[in-house]
Amino acid sequence: MKEKRVLSGMRPTGKLHLGHYHGVLKNWLRLQSQYECFFFVADWHALTTGYDDTASIAGNIDEMVLDWLSVGIDPGRATIFTQSEVKEHAELFVLLSMITPLSWLERNPTYKEQLQEIESKDIRTFGFLGYPVLQTADIIMYRARLVPVGIDQAPHLELSREITRRFNHLYGHVFPEPETLLTEVPKVLGTDGRKMSKSYDNAVFLSDPPEVMEKKLLQMVTDTARKRKTDPGDPELCPFYQTYHALYPDKERLQWVEEGCKGASIGCIECKRSVIPSVIEEMGPIQEKRETLAKDPAYVARVLAEGRGRASEEAGLVMKEVRAAMGLNHGKDRAVKR
Ligand code: TRP
Ligand code: SF4
Repeated sequence: MKEKRVLSGMRPTGKLHLGHYHGVLKNWLRLQSQYECFFFVADWHALTTGYDDTASIAGNIDEMVLDWLSVGIDPGRATIFTQSEVKEHAELFVLLSMITPLSWLERNPTYKEQLQEIESKDIRTFGFLGYPVLQTADIIMYRARLVPVGIDQAPHLELSREITRRFNHLYGHVFPEPETLLTEVPKVLGTDGRKMSKSYDNAVFLSDPPEVMEKKLLQMVTDTARKRKTDPGDPELCPFYQTYHALYPDKERLQWVEEGCKGASIGCIECKRSVIPSVIEEMGPIQEKRETLAKDPAYVARVLAEGRGRASEEAGLVMKEVRAAMGLNHGKDRAVKR
């Protein structure tokens, strides 16, 4: 049952929001009960766009991992660690960079898109171009077979597969090709109606107290054509509906909203209040757990230290094989047989 290994990572963005919860963490929870999982903090990847703001990384790691643990990511089942604490990732990154043609990286649609989008700083760096090479190292280091990611990461995963094939072709079969486990990501919109994102300042955080959550949800934009209760609205065009009524579908409620919105017989506040308790209720136990865990300020550090131990062990063994396969065991690993 546990035959395939799963690996996934997140850049340390700090406190997680409902988009992360419904789009990523719920999948991780399901996967950790079925497979051997590695979940890691991609802190070096955070430097690709955030190299000029390193002061917040440590705190962001703690907040993010605390959220992982609060939702039920279980250090007893999954290996939870930080990328920069397992130096082998850097070694494998260097080796893979030698066999990765520049053209593969330059034609990556995600790369091209981000070059255009991010204007506030110079991201035409070697590291940013090489993002998918480092990501490949993260994955194949643990011989992961399944990599759960959203559609935006699919081009990166395709590159990982190509780089892995090239490695195996040049040096012999060392790594299984990772498969993309495309997870269906529900549309979670922020208070302004755009995709929920910390950088848009429109996010509802898992750790927001119930009053804050309620306030944010009550202020969220609705069908913009519906200025007052007497204007008919359309749930299809309402970001609140598309997010929260979709996440907590209740047949009777949906029908009531549909009729009341289109027929202008219910107000938006009423409509929102019908589902807000479901949102808050689901977060209740998560927030309780967060509070309990946060009482021990060293808990996250202990979890990460234990994960680092397990990850390092794996990474150490794989790198010995890699060096041997590449004829690089002229150093201290000379005695290791292929
Ligand atoms: N690129 C991923 C993101 O931005 C993070 C990441 C780094 C990752 N290495 C990975 C995800 C390996 C899956 C597997 O979310
Ligand atoms: Fe959206 Fe509900 Fe208002 Fe209709 S009544 S616009 S579905 S919040």
